Amino acid sequence: MKRPYEELGLVNTKEMFKKAMEGKYAIPAYNFNNMEQLQAIIGGCAESNSPVIVQVSSGARKYANQTMLYWMAKGAVEMCRKDLKSNIPICLHLDHGDTFELCKSCVDSGFSSVMIDGSHLSYEENIAVTKKVVEYAHQFDVSVEGELGVLAGIEDAVSAEKHTYTDPNQVEDFVKRTGVDSLAISIGTSHGAYKFKVKPGESVPPLRFDILDEVEKRLPGFPIVLHGSSSVLQEYVQMINQYGGKMDNAVGVPEEQLRKAAKSAVCKINIDSDGRLVVTAIIRKVFAEQPGEFDPRKYLGPAREELKKVIIEKNTNVLGSAGKA
Ligand code: G3H
Ligand code: 13P
Ligand code: ZN
Repeated sequence: MKRPYEELGLVNTKEMFKKAMEGKYAIPAYNFNNMEQLQAIIGGCAESNSPVIVQVSSGARKYANQTMLYWMAKGAVEMCRKDLKSNIPICLHLDHGDTFELCKSCVDSGFSSVMIDGSHLSYEENIAVTKKVVEYAHQFDVSVEGELGVLAGIEDAVSAEKHTYTDPNQVEDFVKRTGVDSLAISIGTSHGAYKFKVKPGESVPPLRFDILDEVEKRLPGFPIVLHGSSSVLQEYVQMINQYGGKMDNAVGVPEEQLRKAAKSAVCKINIDSDGRLVVTAIIRKVFAEQPGEFDPRKYLGPAREELKKVIIEKNTNVLGSAGKA
């Protein structure tokens, strides 16, 4: 009998991560909330022949409706196979699941991977909820990502004032006791478009690669995940500001550092904010230059095209996943 996610034509992360680890690249994990974002992600990954993880947060799940999401995922896979003639592996992942019930519901409705984010709980509570999710998900061969250490940043559902770096002394015990398939760690990235407090012209502080190295030593060959990995592409921040927006001092993780991370045990790199910036910048530009335009296809269409271009660029020049499907 087929697993719920196999019915949708999806795969879990097992093979993807194995190949990424061996090939020294990272699988892109792009967030989506609507049709245009999903089309751009699948289109960009098909064109660059990259495996992909498409992920939804609990906020995205509420926004898009869970039934709609199921059919969107099915539609995306079919579009990819039939219309784009591409066989790239596609994984549908729950981003920052915060309860066992939410993770279970996603497993039941066809997700091939879930994250249980217990990073805000005590260590023992994090272990308990993560283990429970793993025990359920693994019955259906669904992959589970856990998290140790807290990322700063303010999102719909993900909110923390201060970050706490992952303690490498805990990772072995956590992985052993929970049975997770991958581990998100905190090495200085954060969610959103304002990742570092730097004055114009100043460079951002490097990520804590020393912590990543320590984690790799404790967990040789184990897939590591980096959240908060948008570069906050300045071209689009400037476009937003030029066309009436206000995003002062928005900065992200330099691409060079992500390239370095992708060559290590980091097998999955999460990118949401960059996609939001691209879409917003293009829509603002169209609105400013064509104030009489009121057909959503005329601004969502160019936004989708630009997002697809950025995804191809990231897969090719940052994550190294292009051509690896
Ligand atoms: O890590 C969080 C993602 O960027 C999702 O954000 O909760 O606003 O959908 P969201
Ligand atoms: P960014 O805000 O840097 O895009 O991070 C996204 C993320 O980590 C989703 O889980
Ligand atoms: Zn995240």
